[in-house]
Amino acid sequence: MLKKESIASKYNPMNNILLTGGAGFIGSHVVRLLVAKYHDYKIFNLDNLTYAGNLENLRDIEDKENYCFIKADITNTAEIDALFQKHQFDQVVHLAAESHVDRSITDPIGFAKTNIIGTLNLLEASKKLWASNYDGKLFYHISTDEVYGTLGKEGLFTETTPYDPNSPYSASKAGSDHFVRAYGETYGLPFVISNCSNNYGPNQFPEKLIPLFINNIIENKPLPVYGDGNYTRDWLYVLDHAKAIDLILHKGKVKETYNIGGFNEWKNIDLVKLLCAQMDVKLERAKGSSEKLITYVKDRPGHDLRYAIDASKINTELGWEPSVTFEQGLSRTIDWYLGNSEWLNHVTTGTYQEYYEKQYQ
Ligand code: NAD
Ligand code: TYD
Repeated sequence: MLKKESIASKYNPMNNILLTGGAGFIGSHVVRLLVAKYHDYKIFNLDNLTYAGNLENLRDIEDKENYCFIKADITNTAEIDALFQKHQFDQVVHLAAESHVDRSITDPIGFAKTNIIGTLNLLEASKKLWASNYDGKLFYHISTDEVYGTLGKEGLFTETTPYDPNSPYSASKAGSDHFVRAYGETYGLPFVISNCSNNYGPNQFPEKLIPLFINNIIENKPLPVYGDGNYTRDWLYVLDHAKAIDLILHKGKVKETYNIGGFNEWKNIDLVKLLCAQMDVKLERAKGSSEKLITYVKDRPGHDLRYAIDASKINTELGWEPSVTFEQGLSRTIDWYLGNSEWLNHVTTGTYQEYYEKQYQ
């Protein structure tokens, strides 16, 4: 029987950690943090480098002795099983996913394959490898607050809010969360889950609101605000999410869920106006010039009105809190994109243009 109170995973210098999706936005920050902090661990970054995976995100650590990149697809059952047998992973930190709501609306089956079947393959391989002894083993599943559905004007998502997903993306993440929990109950697999709010920061693919709008402002292109812009999200700087993941991996309790959020709600339109104001200053453009690019466009189908996290559990139990204000984090993020135009150019050529035309025609 899976014990609830045991600590997720104590520091053990022999740990082989499999991190999936480490070439993506959040994963790259988690990989860098773990590689820099735990020299004795061996960190295996497994990623099949979809449009969202980019090894340029990890150039600075690719030669580190405690780091190893594996190009593989989590939907490939045999390949995943063989890799578990070969490398004898002790812990799994699972981030690999299809992550963009708009893409899930045009490709729900692709999202189900990666997010549900992919997670199941990792669960099966973990169960098989660890079957004889679960000591020191952990399956840490990274999820989203979007599984809870939408809030009205009041209230916050807590760890006990019932799941009520509205998009194919959030439905597929909810499905994967349920399977993780089911493996804990049925097979005793030690797991922990965290559900985080919207992240922003360096390395985010410019399909999500903040990097898309930064890129469009740089290029003087319209800023496509969905609907009336009165949708609310709770924004967290990506490095603060990475620190929360490190904390939960080492100090969290098995079988628990932790909500992670920024205590930082913004209506889209207010966020976009703040972004425009910061960009005008940084680009030395006339005050108000970026705001003129705001264009209201057709709404996203099934658009969730409001997300907001009650992060008091991780705050009180593990002592975590965000380290930067939104104004600071946003300013750092803009500086990163302005200073990394090569990165931005690489990811916005070719198929990105096709995606953009189709999405915002
Ligand atoms: P991302 O889209 O930037 O990166 C996903 C990574 O997964 C990419 O490197 C991609 O190549 C890899 N991947 C996709 N399919 C794969 C497959 N079949 N096999 C192997 N690798 C594959 O995503 P992100 O924003 O960094 O999100 C990471 C995780 O965090 C996801 O599970 C997401 O649901 C969750 N999350 C994201 C946010 C957010 O605001 N971005 C918030 C909460 C939770
Ligand atoms: P997004 O970054 O896609 O994250 P999520 O949908 O997972 O919360 O979108 C954040 C908010 O911004 C969401 O309310 C949709 C809105 N949005 C726009 O108004 N225009 C856009 O072009 C995009 C990508 C998002």
